[in-house]
Amino acid sequence: MTALAQSTGFVSLVSAGPGDPELLTLKAARRMAEADVILFDDLASGPVLDQAGPQTELIAVGKRAGRPSARQEHVNALLIGHARQGRRVVRLKSGDAGIFGRLEEELIALTGAGIPFEIVPGVTSASAAAAAAGLPLTRRLTARRLQFVTGADVTGNLPEDINWAAIADPGATTVVFMGQRSFPKLADGLHAHGLPPSTPALFAEAVGHPHQRLVHTTIGELAVMMRNAEVTQPGLILYGPLALRGEKPQSTDPDSTP
Ligand SMILES: C[S@@+](CC[C@H](N)C(=O)[O-])C[C@H]1O[C@@H](n2cnc3c(N)ncnc32)[C@H](O)[C@@H]1O
Repeated sequence: MTALAQSTGFVSLVSAGPGDPELLTLKAARRMAEADVILFDDLASGPVLDQAGPQTELIAVGKRAGRPSARQEHVNALLIGHARQGRRVVRLKSGDAGIFGRLEEELIALTGAGIPFEIVPGVTSASAAAAAAGLPLTRRLTARRLQFVTGADVTGNLPEDINWAAIADPGATTVVFMGQRSFPKLADGLHAHGLPPSTPALFAEAVGHPHQRLVHTTIGELAVMMRNAEVTQPGLILYGPLALRGEKPQSTDPDSTP
């Protein structure tokens, strides 16, 4: 038993990365190997679960595990219930657990129940997508801002209160999570707010999985592609002043600006 495990149990909220087990942190792998039980999401499954110890109980709690309406309450109850039995609980979330992962709901539940916990950060699918495509997320002269946004609110539609000025900022790299279905509408809004359809874009599907797909395109072309596309895999959309493949770095000036 590690120093972290206590008689009340302990919950580690662990980031699983995008799916490639080599993108797990050492801490994540260690927590999984030592866990009595792992509660995992659909996107935090597959080969990463091989890190679990031989005695670890694996429990799927994603949408495919059912209970769509009471899912969060059900997960909270499981976390608290297993921890109260004195178990080392790992709650495994895809990418970085703190990004669009409903982490806060679970932190509130654990705090309210008096269960000790830790958060183990990890590799978000956003940085894994950029790395897979050979792109930097920021650029010294043209992309001085980086923003992560969701393309879906709780109803699954484009959020109504979207900050158009921010997401149409030509000086920012924008990463859209959960935005495949709403992208045609988003692209119309971007165009209306001054971002040209020729703006470079990357569609990154199933990053870190064997069937990973990367499409270098523009926001205009991607909107057309997404209009009739069936969404079967997790995907991210990156757009903005993305470096084009083979393009020279913008400056060789050795000043210290990152
Ligand atoms: C609930 S959010 C979780 C994000 C996660 N916490 C992260 O940091 O990557 C799920 C969305 O993340 C993106 N995503 C997660 N894993 C992905 C992957 N392996 N490839 C592409 N997109 C991914 C997709 O936009 C998906 O709809």
